[in-house]
Amino acid sequence: MARTLPIRLPHTEDTAGGARERSADAPRSTGEGSAHAKAILFGEHAVVYGAPAIAIPIHELEAEARVESAERGIRIESELYSGEASAAPQGMQPVVTAIEASLAQIGAPQAGVRVQILSAIPHSRGLGSSAAVAAAVARAIADWAGRTLGEGNLFEVVQQAERVAHGNPSGLDARAVTADSTIRFDFGVVSAVRTGQALSFVLADSGIAGSTAEAVGAVRSRRESDTDVTEGLLSRLARIAEDSIEDIARGDRDAIGARMSEAHDLLDQIGVSSPTLNSLVDAAIAAGAYGAKLTGGGLGGCIIALAESPQHAEQLGRALRQAGALRTWTATVPAA
Ligand code: PMV
Repeated sequence: MARTLPIRLPHTEDTAGGARERSADAPRSTGEGSAHAKAILFGEHAVVYGAPAIAIPIHELEAEARVESAERGIRIESELYSGEASAAPQGMQPVVTAIEASLAQIGAPQAGVRVQILSAIPHSRGLGSSAAVAAAVARAIADWAGRTLGEGNLFEVVQQAERVAHGNPSGLDARAVTADSTIRFDFGVVSAVRTGQALSFVLADSGIAGSTAEAVGAVRSRRESDTDVTEGLLSRLARIAEDSIEDIARGDRDAIGARMSEAHDLLDQIGVSSPTLNSLVDAAIAAGAYGAKLTGGGLGGCIIALAESPQHAEQLGRALRQAGALRTWTATVPAA
């Protein structure tokens, strides 16, 4: 893990002077887990109507969780809330669900645990924050129990939490925040996308929370009222996502960048961009990005721009902050 959790917990009975003997198969005194952010490179919105979505891992932004044994009940410590799970506010319910589902997965639904969460992933920015926290919690609880969750079980836990967070998640976030490399997501089926060359990106936060549900609803209404035009735009987005797979395999930055900018124009025409997102995209291109687009649901959230190198991504980040981005992050997807 890149950082250590800053919160120091008091010793539990198990660690304070060996007050209680452990049996060999008892949980460890602590468990740790992490997961990373994700960004959608191609296919947002079109994926709802059957296109593939291409997502990249953002290893530079992590959610971490640490679990300790407690006498009874579930105690959560996080930036948003610290206290008993039973008294947690609505916004924490996905986390409570992740903890309960993970304890059920390891066959200890009644176990007492103290769960600390530290996440560098901003929420409501299309970066997979809720899914990454749920995955970190699931991995930490499994680690605490001396177990490793298989991919399917981990996915199930994260999806349960995501249903509480978002109602009807496609599963893309749950897969992308635990995938090491670029993935293609087709109707729930995930496959690795060969990445011919390392690709460096910059992400810039518009400072405006995006609502995926609102954006998806807006596209749906538009598709009903202006069917031909909207379907035309969606099918061009689908084709870009499909065709990008070859470009990514070749590591062809010119082609990937051109497709990103084209996808942004189409997303703008479909109505999910905003003046702020458009001006950040323009600023990225003016500063020398190969291409730039909004990422995720839109109507706020982030843009993503393709750079030449990690250093170039840093330069683009500076230009984007000058152009009004609230904050920026750089991310490099390794060749794979
Ligand atoms: O905003 P995000 O990162 O959750 O992405 C939403 C992607 C959409 O295609 C707009 C919706 C979906 O469920 O796939």
